[in-house]
Amino acid sequence: MNNVRPESMARITTPELAKAFIDEQVKEIREQVGSDKVLLALSGGVDSSVVAALLIKAIGKQLVCVHVNHGLMRKDESENVIKIFSEGLDANLVYVDATDRFLDLLAGVSDPEKKRKIIGAEFINVFADEARKLDDVKYLAQGTIYPDILESIKQAEGKKAVKSHHNVGGLPEDLKFSLVEPIKLLYKDEVRVVGEALGLPHAMVYRQPFPGPGLGVRCLGAITRDRLAALREADAILRDEFDKCGLAEKVWQYFVVIPDIKSVGVKDESRYEGWPAIIRAVNTKDAMSATIEEIPYSVLHKITARITTEVDGINRVLMDLTPKPVGTIEWE
Ligand code: XMP
Repeated sequence: MNNVRPESMARITTPELAKAFIDEQVKEIREQVGSDKVLLALSGGVDSSVVAALLIKAIGKQLVCVHVNHGLMRKDESENVIKIFSEGLDANLVYVDATDRFLDLLAGVSDPEKKRKIIGAEFINVFADEARKLDDVKYLAQGTIYPDILESIKQAEGKKAVKSHHNVGGLPEDLKFSLVEPIKLLYKDEVRVVGEALGLPHAMVYRQPFPGPGLGVRCLGAITRDRLAALREADAILRDEFDKCGLAEKVWQYFVVIPDIKSVGVKDESRYEGWPAIIRAVNTKDAMSATIEEIPYSVLHKITARITTEVDGINRVLMDLTPKPVGTIEWE
């Protein structure tokens, strides 16, 4: 399969078309890898999850999935990956809790690009350590999709990227794998249709985008464990409330950001210094520009009440009303 989507390739919009694609890929994957092992970094995002499910269907336990928990995942995220893939699909899954490795390296680092670089590089180190423990793995599967290929072409033409994005490319020299990229000609909407046809849960296949560096780009400035824990809890409350009132289906991306500042508040009749939790809820078609979704005040009051009572260390809740441009979607 080369890197150009043929004009004749029909858009995968129905379960029947997805099934035909899956059958064709299962055959191609089996032909490509034979009886060899394939390694996959399984983040739990849509793309890597669909590739995992596709490869499990094609080659079962010849696929070794490595899930690296960098300590910057959302609440229950790693647990869900284990539940769906280990328990549900009987995957050959290696779970690595690398929280301490990442958080120790990030301690005291406040520059956003430095944080991204540390997270990206350490991700590769952890993944490479796991890869070296395995014998006779010849292939590396990746959840590359067509927009990633189009973006690389743009960058090769000299157009500058705004942020250094996180991926598993750039493994060390001693780890030379041939790539397996079964969804590289698909657009995101097609990946979701294929994912559902493979039996992945709707919530996983239609989940909102989540950046590779995870909560690291939302815990602004130098990450501390207490502020990260507050962010994880506040974010879980926001997602829970959006689920309950149907906004989760209407808003493209919604999350909490916690900056590295404190203000004075009052709790139990005493001075209470805490961080503000900032809510960001945007709609977009392609993430290049974004508009602000109107959230009913009743929902905002409920979220504010829950975050300020249930989460240690937060004493205010704010709403970001800035479209992109001029703000980016993430704060960093
Ligand atoms: P910005 O903040 O640039 O974000 O407006 C645009 C979209 O990209 C997501 N994002 C990332 N996705 N790896 C990803 O896979 C990353 O490193 C990354 N950084 C930002 C962001 O969440 C938004 O949806």
